[in-house]
Amino acid sequence: MKALVVGGGGREHAIAAALARNPETHVFSVMAKRNPGIAHIAKKILLHKETDTGRVLAFAHECGVDYAVIGPEAPLEAGIVDVLEAAGIPCVGPSRAAARLETDKAFCRELMHRYRIPGCPEYRVFHDTDDAVAFVENYDGDLVVKPVGLTGGKGVRIMGEQVDREGAIEYVRSLHGVAVIEERLLGEEFTLQAFADGKSLVPMPLVQDHKRAFEGDTGPNTGGMGSYSMPDHRMPFVKDADYKKALDIMMATIAAMAQEGHPYKGILYGQFMNTANGPKVIEYNARFGDPEAMNVLSLLSSDLGETACGIADGTLCSKAVTFDKKATVCKYLVPEGYPDKPVPGDTVTVGDHTGALLYYANIEERDGRLATLTSRTLAFVGMGDTLEEAQEHAEKAASSVKGNVRYRRDIGTVKLLNQRIAHMKELR
Ligand code: AMP
Ligand code: GLY
Repeated sequence: MKALVVGGGGREHAIAAALARNPETHVFSVMAKRNPGIAHIAKKILLHKETDTGRVLAFAHECGVDYAVIGPEAPLEAGIVDVLEAAGIPCVGPSRAAARLETDKAFCRELMHRYRIPGCPEYRVFHDTDDAVAFVENYDGDLVVKPVGLTGGKGVRIMGEQVDREGAIEYVRSLHGVAVIEERLLGEEFTLQAFADGKSLVPMPLVQDHKRAFEGDTGPNTGGMGSYSMPDHRMPFVKDADYKKALDIMMATIAAMAQEGHPYKGILYGQFMNTANGPKVIEYNARFGDPEAMNVLSLLSSDLGETACGIADGTLCSKAVTFDKKATVCKYLVPEGYPDKPVPGDTVTVGDHTGALLYYANIEERDGRLATLTSRTLAFVGMGDTLEEAQEHAEKAASSVKGNVRYRRDIGTVKLLNQRIAHMKELR
């Protein structure tokens, strides 16, 4: 089979690598920047804007691909699935209308509210700046202010943590129009990703991402600095009942999408806050998480291509999807100054990284040298029978890299995990 992978980050490198584990799957790629890892795997690449749906379709025809896997959210929002499927190329990814679960935060909250889906925080959607400002001025408690559209995970301001009331008001004003304002949820975050074929979901192992730039969860929000997963595919601070609730929330959401006439297929990414009262939805994404894709796809022991076909033709089967019972730790290396003032153009040299998988992201190959760009550079995934073992592999590999890059040493450590467990105990 011939598979087209759209996108050129660490997530898409992991997708391409998972597909290519079946020697009968030939990978083709469209990406805006040349990812050396994907370029190495792919039979043919097109360096082009991923949101140019017409050009992507032409390339898909040229290569005679059987199906396409869409990595990032921007092409989904541009309607790439609608365009490819209208031309007879099935996709792993939702239609533009179904992708609104991610691309329109107001739509997502209103859908959950309309269908009485549990796990929806208290929220208000504002279309007028003055109304929103008045609401923030008079609200008693902490709030979260979000733009409705895509922001690469960097558009949220949390009052009571990142900003004070004045800061929240200033932020509301800067949005010039629609904003979602919601209660601030307290708890521990976890990610539940699932394959979806429009009717049913097949869940993947739970992962915990680390959004903050610096150790100890400090500094600005980033696209994600790294993530880990446990050998039992759960999290020690997520009880069976919490897990079941989270999965039920996601199933209710895809049932609602089907009722709306926009069946959801592709990858459904649920970002949850496990609160004292159980899991609440922070947001949905219409695609794999980045970095979370690297954790789960490194563990996937069944054929991703087969699952992709099951998604595309509505015959997804949980029995056919299997993951190794191992822990994973993913650490992203990022340019110095990332995310606010990244310094690009520095040479990076990868040393001995035996024991860890290497996924390239925003990096440039020039005359046989690798150089940083402005976003996340590359990631290592360590695996092991225990979290410690996985962490050691990831840490050893990350510390082998020379150049003007940094990473979070604390991700995947037992110390950090114990803090999360203690935090959850305290809340309950
Ligand atoms: P998002 O762009 O929606 O993924 O939000 C980015 C980050 O902001 C999340 O990973 C959370 O850490 C935080 N966040 C978003 N919404 C809330 C909320 N309602 N309460 C507390 N934290 C939130
Ligand atoms: N890791 C968060 C995201 O992919 O949006």
